[in-house]
Amino acid sequence: MRELKILAVVVFFSGVLYWGVEPFAHSKLHPHVEPADYTFADVDGLQGMNGDAIKGAELVAANCTACHSIESQGFPKIMDDASSAASYGVVPPDLGTSGAIYDENFLAAVIKNPAKATKTEHKFQDGKTHPMPGYDWMQPQEIADMVAYLKSIAPAELTNKEVYIDACQRCHSIKYGDFRFDGTKSSMLAFTPDENIKAYMGIVPPDLSQYIRSRGEGYLHTFINDPQKHLEGTAMPRVGLTKAAEDQVVAYMTEVGDSSKPKREALAGPFLGYLVIFAIFAWLWKAKIWREVH
Ligand code: HEC
Ligand code: HEC
Repeated sequence: MRELKILAVVVFFSGVLYWGVEPFAHSKLHPHVEPADYTFADVDGLQGMNGDAIKGAELVAANCTACHSIESQGFPKIMDDASSAASYGVVPPDLGTSGAIYDENFLAAVIKNPAKATKTEHKFQDGKTHPMPGYDWMQPQEIADMVAYLKSIAPAELTNKEVYIDACQRCHSIKYGDFRFDGTKSSMLAFTPDENIKAYMGIVPPDLSQYIRSRGEGYLHTFINDPQKHLEGTAMPRVGLTKAAEDQVVAYMTEVGDSSKPKREALAGPFLGYLVIFAIFAWLWKAKIWREVH
């Protein structure tokens, strides 16, 4: 009877902590935000238009390749990274994969008005302009053609790391992605040198090696999809990835920052089994000792 009472007290206090204190603390530390929206319903996107990839090829070659490389289509970088960072504040990404990783409506919206689509208009006021010119003077059909072209050249499958490189690495290092013990530089440093990105963003974007642990998956998804929801006024642009591409980025951050996760999860079953067997033995042992005492 006494043991049951002790059990009841333990259950009661664990319950208070588990259902009362913990959810309360969690709601204070991680205020609730709306879930990620992969439809990008708020942007001025394609408006249901279908593009012509062949016409789009010409338009992209004429308008975009002065700043952006498209290595897979024979458009190399015109400047090295240091020079383009000095010119634009940030190294423009290669566009070979953008048709696959970005949502098509978001992509159209970025081409029309990059600051608006990425929700960073507050950064570009008082004469400051986004380093990429908007193309909203073009016909909507021409924008749709360029999107169709970018989709037509994008590879059907990308590795998690490739998505990360094109979506995030122009701004963020993720050093542990390629940690070198011999003292040479990691190949996963940000493409843009610190002093340029600091001048452009006002802050050096953090190294992302450990963010999967400090922030967790849920936060990362809503943050990438719309950073303003979590950090109002932040300089980080909304990165309009498709759900699949965003999953790949978060998977890459998990591979880098929490590489033992699969092992740990595989251990759960055997470990619980061990606890059950151990509990049986412990109980048998206790029963034996008490039998001898009485
Ligand atoms: C004058 C140089 C310049 C030109 C021309 C230019 N861009 Fe950009 N673009 C940039 C820079 C710089 C960035 C990175 C901005 C940032 O990350 O804040 C960028 C970013 C992008 C992105 C990534 C957006 C995101 O939210 O991550 C896409 C997609 C893109 N450009 C497509 C295009 C297309 C398509 C064209 C042609 C119609 C084009 N750009 C023309 C400089 C340029
Ligand atoms: C154009 C530059 C740029 C790009 C591209 C970019 N970021 Fe950021 N990011 C920033 C800046 C600047 C900050 C710092 C924001 C602040 O402290 O206000 C930041 C902050 C972050 C943070 C920290 C958030 C926090 O809670 O402190 C995470 C996580 C992050 N970025 C993830 C990503 C991922 C993942 C990608 C690619 C999908 C990405 N970023 C693309 C500029 C960028």
